[in-house]
Amino acid sequence: MASAFILLLLFTVSLCFHPNFAINQESLYLLRVKDSLSDPAGSLNNWSDRDATPCNWTGIVCDNRNSVISVNLTGASLSGPFPMFVCRLPSLSMISLSNNSINSSLPVTISSCRNLTYLDLSDNLFVGTIPYSLADIHSLRYINFEANNFSGEIPESFGNFQLLETFKINENLLNGTVPAALGRITSLKSLELAYNPFSPGRLPPELGNLTNLEVLWLSHCHLEGPIPESFVGLSRIKNLDLSGNRLTGPIPSLICKLKSVVQIELYANLFTGKLPAGWSNLTELRRFDAAMNNLTGTIPDELCELPLEWLNLYENQLNGQIPESIAKSPNLYDLRLFGNQLSGSLPSELGKNSALQTLDVSHNNLSGVIPEHLCQRGVLEELVLIYNSFSGNIPESLGKCRSLMRIRMRGNQLSGEIPADFWGLPHVYLLDLDSNAFSGNISNKIFGARNLSTLSVSENMLSGSIPRETGSLENLVEFSAHDNHLGGEIPSSLVHLGQLGKLDLSNNHLSGEIPRGVKDLKQLNELNLANNRLYGEIPDEIGSMPVLNYLDLSRNTFSGSIPRSLQNLKLNMLNLSNNQLSGEVPPLFAKEVYRDSFLGNPGLCGDIAGLCNPTGENRSRAFLWVLRSIFVIAGIVFLVGVVCFVWKYKNAKKMNKGVIMTKWTSFHKLGFSEFEINECLKEANVIGRGASGKVYKVVLSNGEIVAVKKLWERSDKIEDEFEIEVETLGKVRHKNIVKLWCSCNTGSCKLLVYEYMPNGSLGDLLHINKSKLLNWRTRFKIVLDAAEGLSYLHHDCVPSIVHRDVKSNNILLDENFGAKISDFGVAKILKTVNQGVESMSVIVGSRGYIAPEYAYTLRVNEKSDIYSFGIVILELVTGRTPTDPDFGGKDLATWVCMTLDKEGIDHVMDPSLDSEFKEQICRLLDIGLLCTSSLPINRPSMRTVVKMLQALANNMPNVVDKDGKTFPSCDQESMV
Ligand SMILES: *[C@@H]1O[C@H](CO)[C@@H](O)[C@H](O)[C@H]1NC(C)=O
Ligand SMILES: *[C@@H]1O[C@H](CO)[C@@H](O)[C@H](O)[C@H]1NC(C)=O
Ligand SMILES: *[C@@H]1O[C@H](CO)[C@@H](O)[C@H](O)[C@H]1NC(C)=O
Repeated sequence: MASAFILLLLFTVSLCFHPNFAINQESLYLLRVKDSLSDPAGSLNNWSDRDATPCNWTGIVCDNRNSVISVNLTGASLSGPFPMFVCRLPSLSMISLSNNSINSSLPVTISSCRNLTYLDLSDNLFVGTIPYSLADIHSLRYINFEANNFSGEIPESFGNFQLLETFKINENLLNGTVPAALGRITSLKSLELAYNPFSPGRLPPELGNLTNLEVLWLSHCHLEGPIPESFVGLSRIKNLDLSGNRLTGPIPSLICKLKSVVQIELYANLFTGKLPAGWSNLTELRRFDAAMNNLTGTIPDELCELPLEWLNLYENQLNGQIPESIAKSPNLYDLRLFGNQLSGSLPSELGKNSALQTLDVSHNNLSGVIPEHLCQRGVLEELVLIYNSFSGNIPESLGKCRSLMRIRMRGNQLSGEIPADFWGLPHVYLLDLDSNAFSGNISNKIFGARNLSTLSVSENMLSGSIPRETGSLENLVEFSAHDNHLGGEIPSSLVHLGQLGKLDLSNNHLSGEIPRGVKDLKQLNELNLANNRLYGEIPDEIGSMPVLNYLDLSRNTFSGSIPRSLQNLKLNMLNLSNNQLSGEVPPLFAKEVYRDSFLGNPGLCGDIAGLCNPTGENRSRAFLWVLRSIFVIAGIVFLVGVVCFVWKYKNAKKMNKGVIMTKWTSFHKLGFSEFEINECLKEANVIGRGASGKVYKVVLSNGEIVAVKKLWERSDKIEDEFEIEVETLGKVRHKNIVKLWCSCNTGSCKLLVYEYMPNGSLGDLLHINKSKLLNWRTRFKIVLDAAEGLSYLHHDCVPSIVHRDVKSNNILLDENFGAKISDFGVAKILKTVNQGVESMSVIVGSRGYIAPEYAYTLRVNEKSDIYSFGIVILELVTGRTPTDPDFGGKDLATWVCMTLDKEGIDHVMDPSLDSEFKEQICRLLDIGLLCTSSLPINRPSMRTVVKMLQALANNMPNVVDKDGKTFPSCDQESMV
């Protein structure tokens, strides 16, 4: 009995001293909150049951009666469900769980948080719909659900909020429409619904009732139709952002009545017509952006009279002059008007009154001189004037503009000497002055241009010699100065340019020898010194340049023999013609294929027709050769006769089987004749030219249209190509591969007749200003089609076929933009399925599309095609050619990775693509990057690529690669 009493006593005592005994009810609720969350960072470690109140705990604020009024757990690395126990705290008015990984839905019982005024759940992983009951918390003033995965509709009940001032739900997966009920929340100051995949619909006119609204952000909400007239009611609006929708009609004049507006964003919509008049009321307006619409007419003077900070009207159809008044704004720092039809000259005072940073007026019809004061405040960074008709000099003042980073003036009529200091600006990385009429020297002050990566001054009238100081520009990747009057010697200092990838000094008056030490140009891919007055021997060391694959030394007076070391190079292009070279052609090059590389060197001998003048001892050799030829020809004639005989009388069945190489046989079946086709092969009908021949469009008398490729009459290389193409295509039947109807091979006449593809090649469409025809859906369909064609070649043909020249110019489009792969001139059939890898003697493929490993190993397999296909994807997404000068010598894949990293998707994707599809575009970009992995083993097979594309087409999210990692995988670091 006594012992029982003692036990009871002990128990009571222990209860008294247990800390829990002292803890208040709110602490208990918060400890339940802690229990319900996963807290790997230990953010809630000091939430302990030893404290009497929770008021000193991380993230907790109490009122003066020690009641919790605020739970702020921003950025605490918490995950788990929404901690409903917080709603038991009776005085709680503020919850912030922003920037965690809460991954549940928001419970309907959230309304039990009765006294809440502030609810911030942004940057989490919330899913499901927004509970209608949230609107029962009448006290709410602030809701931020940005950057979650909420889906469904915004509840109608939200119209009942009386005090709500801020509602942000940007970047979710809402897929209803923008509800008119929001127009009833007249207390709203900020309404932000941007970047949600709403179903297409109009802007609700009811939003015009929001008379207190200051911020309306509805970009990328799939809005259609006009801006409602009722929006004139937004009398307090400061920031109106409706960009990236499909809004139509003119920009309404009501815009000019929104007196308090500071920023208007209307870019990337479908607005047409002229800009409205009456801007003078908008005294607060600082930023106006209506770029990428279809606006016509002139830029209103009144708009330019406002003290704007920036004005973006690029890619419209505006004409007329740029108002002089824009130069008066004391705030202007960014002016982008490129891609219009503006004429006249630039405002003469531009840059005088404000700290101008960016000026881009490319692709207009502007003329006159470059204004004197552009850099008066010393902050001008980008000056882009390409493809206009500017004339006159580069003003001396720009030579003092040390802030300049990117300078592009290509394609104007600028002339005179370039100011000496302009050559040496310390931050410039891109200097592109091509195709003007500049004269004078390249100044030795160029030595100051420490950051220069691309120096392109081709097609001017520059003279004098190339300054020695050019060799100190250690970041230089490309130096193009072809088609000038440069003289003197090539400075030996150039061999120190360790990053140099391209050196093109062709068509100048350079003399002297190739500098010693040229093999130190370890990154040099392309060396073009053609058509100068260079002499001396071709240095042996050229053969040890590790990545050189383009070498043109033609039309100089080089003498001596051709170094045998050239055989070590993996050359794409070799031209030593028209020099004074002598001796034997190195054995590897002593092939007919290389004939053009050596022509015009009288002393050069080798087993190639056309080399070595038939003088002296050569004469007897020539005689022997003629004799031999006669025998060979007679033999061939005899053989052909026999073959024809056999063919005609014996083997009629074989005709159905594929490869048909007789003269026109299959044409008759198709109902047209050889003569008909021959008549149509006129210059006027040429629709394309390739490495192997011209392509004609031929309309037959029966109304049918075909494309006829006539191969260049040349060496036996052509013979090979002809046979390869006929053999390859004859066997292949697939909806995404161009059909070869028939062929003709009689002596000089080598014709291939294909189905006609009315929309031409993808490359032309994409890069020759017709890209508007290619919207996102069309582009995606083209990618899928091409992938299926390629997958067929790789996986369904036995033996499998590697195309080896996949590029946008080899993807043709039919009348419905269905895509088909063409041009099998270099296709290689992989005979041994297991080995699967062939070594080739010559590099084939096209610049910008060649897989990095190919340039080194010359080993080709399907993976090289997949790399090239990846480049085509990137080309479609970015709208850039793989050799865009903006890349500063980098390849497209590297550029995409770097730009994506630094500046985000908006700077990567083709601006003419509808950003409504941004998410899908990103996914396609990921596939493109995966295909261009620098390690071949990381590239997916074409079959996988097709599957990924189909998954994307079916809108299946989270495509995962074979290791289960989600990509992108930007592993471009190593090779080039
Ligand atoms: C909170 O901590 C401070 C000092 O750290 C202390 O003075 C105060 O009494 C504590 N308040 C409560 C309610 O525990
Ligand atoms: C919540 O806490 C973070 C820092 O932890 C702070 O930056 C933020 O302003 C707080 N939020 C509120 C609404 O007090
Ligand atoms: C909760 O709000 C109601 C009304 O809004 C108010 O009467 C009550 O005092 C508040 N409760 C607390 C604990 O602040």
